[in-house]
Amino acid sequence: MTSIAFLGAGMMGAAMIRNYLKAGHRVTVYNRTPAKVVPLVDLGARVAATPAEAASGAEVVISSLTNDAASRECWAGAHGVLSADLEPGTIAVEASTVSLPWVAELDRLVREKKMRFVDAPVAGRPDVAEAGKLRVFAGGAIEDIDALRPVLAAVSAGVTRFGPVGSGITFKLIYNVMGAVQVAATAEAMFACEAVGIDLRAAAEAFSAGATGSPHVVRHARYMAENKHENPVQFSGRMRIKDVGYGIDLIEDRGAQSVLGHATIAVFQQMVDQGVGDRNDSELIDALRSSSRSRRERR
Ligand SMILES: NC(=O)c1ccc[n+]([C@@H]2O[C@H](COP(=O)([O-])OP(=O)(O)OC[C@H]3O[C@@H](n4cnc5c(N)ncnc54)[C@H](OP(=O)(O)O)[C@@H]3O)[C@@H](O)[C@H]2O)c1
Repeated sequence: MTSIAFLGAGMMGAAMIRNYLKAGHRVTVYNRTPAKVVPLVDLGARVAATPAEAASGAEVVISSLTNDAASRECWAGAHGVLSADLEPGTIAVEASTVSLPWVAELDRLVREKKMRFVDAPVAGRPDVAEAGKLRVFAGGAIEDIDALRPVLAAVSAGVTRFGPVGSGITFKLIYNVMGAVQVAATAEAMFACEAVGIDLRAAAEAFSAGATGSPHVVRHARYMAENKHENPVQFSGRMRIKDVGYGIDLIEDRGAQSVLGHATIAVFQQMVDQGVGDRNDSELIDALRSSSRSRRERR
């Protein structure tokens, strides 16, 4: 049994917390919106009013938060984890998809407090998190990641160490650019099929059965064909833009290129411009329909 502080009871966080509780760990949760913690208390979670309060006495502190701003607030803000009196050797784990520069800064701040740091972003949507089958892409000292493995086993089907601190998020951002490109390509291809009069169910079946059929394509083509999207929203267009933006910054900073990353942001930006950026990424096809219709009407 490990004493875990968990920051962020969003879709991913709440699913992970449920699995940590199920595995017998002691979990203290901080969430900005307190109401989201209530169902977790029924399962045995303790509640903290601030990240600092959650972290005090914890052996491992894990966060699953929207972006750099949310992570900075919870770790380094006025009532953040780093303002608490923590045991030296406590392991700080950033499981959110955030930028590499922020991960590097957070590592430095954590080390100043004599704590250890591991970046451990996850792959898999909330249903995969619920099943405890996430893939963890870890960066950090071998001994720190090994110390975490029994804890992470509660939420994951596998932990891959990519190298020192920062390497987990580095791989995750490249992985997510590739994933977002596939979702954007699926929406464009399905919309193209519709435009030329191909039945969308037949198209989804053929894209899924053929060499095009990655898990992203299989999942999203079906939602698009059935015009039935996940409820509640599992991963939004806005989150896609956030991830690809961090990814492009990293890729270009290292001298590689992301032509497809830029194109993917331009495609998802249509959702934001139409005021539906917080809808599921699979609903991108509706944004494409709508902007193409407006373009035709303007001609
Ligand atoms: N959804 C997926 O499929 C998926 C898959 C892999 C990785 N991820 C990554 O996992 C992380 C969490 O995603 P999610 O899907 O769980 O998102 P979510 O349901 O929107 O949850 C976001 C969490 O961040 C908190 N938050 C946002 N801004 C904050 C701020 N300024 N200060 C304090 N807390 C703040 C939210 O608190 P409130 O409840 O108060 O809003 C909530 O706890 C993200 O980095 C995402 O990219 C998501």
